[in-house]
Amino acid sequence: MSKNLTHYNNIIDDSFEASSGIKEELIFYLKEKLFLKHKDIYLNKEKIFTDNEDNLIENFIKKKKEGIPLDYILNSTKFYEEEFYVDERVLIPRSETELLVDYIINYDFPRKIKILDVGTGSGCIGISIALKNPKFEVYGSDYCIDSLNVANINKKNLDVANFHLIQADWLCCFDKKSFDVIISNPPYIAEEDPHLNDLEHEPYRALVAPNNGLGDIQKITQQSTKILKKEGMIIFEHGFNQSNDVKNIFEENGFTNIKLIKDFQNHTRATLGTI
Ligand SMILES: C[S@@+](CC[C@H](N)C(=O)[O-])C[C@H]1O[C@@H](n2cnc3c(N)ncnc32)[C@H](O)[C@@H]1O
Repeated sequence: MSKNLTHYNNIIDDSFEASSGIKEELIFYLKEKLFLKHKDIYLNKEKIFTDNEDNLIENFIKKKKEGIPLDYILNSTKFYEEEFYVDERVLIPRSETELLVDYIINYDFPRKIKILDVGTGSGCIGISIALKNPKFEVYGSDYCIDSLNVANINKKNLDVANFHLIQADWLCCFDKKSFDVIISNPPYIAEEDPHLNDLEHEPYRALVAPNNGLGDIQKITQQSTKILKKEGMIIFEHGFNQSNDVKNIFEENGFTNIKLIKDFQNHTRATLGTI
């Protein structure tokens, strides 16, 4: 049977809910994989795909039936103007995490600084900061070797000389007073949060933290008091309803100048302080 776009759209109609957006994802996938333009696809709706193209589309539909996010299928995501390699070993970088990068690259530091991106995953935060300011010395740490391997792919693909990778369990192995800035998007989802059902393909270790999602933020904050230089800064992404808790954790550990950062929907998604 000849297989054209209409054929595959019919399969998608039969297999997914109308609101699932899978048809739009298929178009995006075809554009990325076959280097087609929007008009090439729509003006040639009845064009019969080659065997190779059929295989690609059938593989796409199979993976979507398994609930795999498009970025993992494409092994690619956009973050802060750059293309990052991703696979199921790391969290897919989210747009709200760009708030942290934005804050740091626009902050007027009085000197050349050393930054640690803790729980670097794909490396998206540290690499984006390092690319924007080649004078910053940026380190990305993760305890998981799988994450570090993905971050290393991105370091090489994006050719970032001032970004270095380190394997570490949070801040346990760093020298005292060695960093000016500690930045992190740590796991912050509570173990019983129902949203976890929608995130089953992303690594559990990247998502969930004990103590109602605050356990890792508490641990990193406590450890950072030794690792940060005088007047050093810590900045976390966190859940939209965690800003008061994070502020309290900062105050308990002696941080001042606490500032909350809101996203475009007016939710507080990041908090920073200095020590
Ligand atoms: C929410 S993901 C963030 C990934 C990436 N920075 C981003 O924003 O997309 C949290 C990361 O913390 C890492 N992680 C979890 N526990 C850790 C630990 N004890 N020490 C270091 N890294 C840890 C995970 O492997 C994961 O890569």
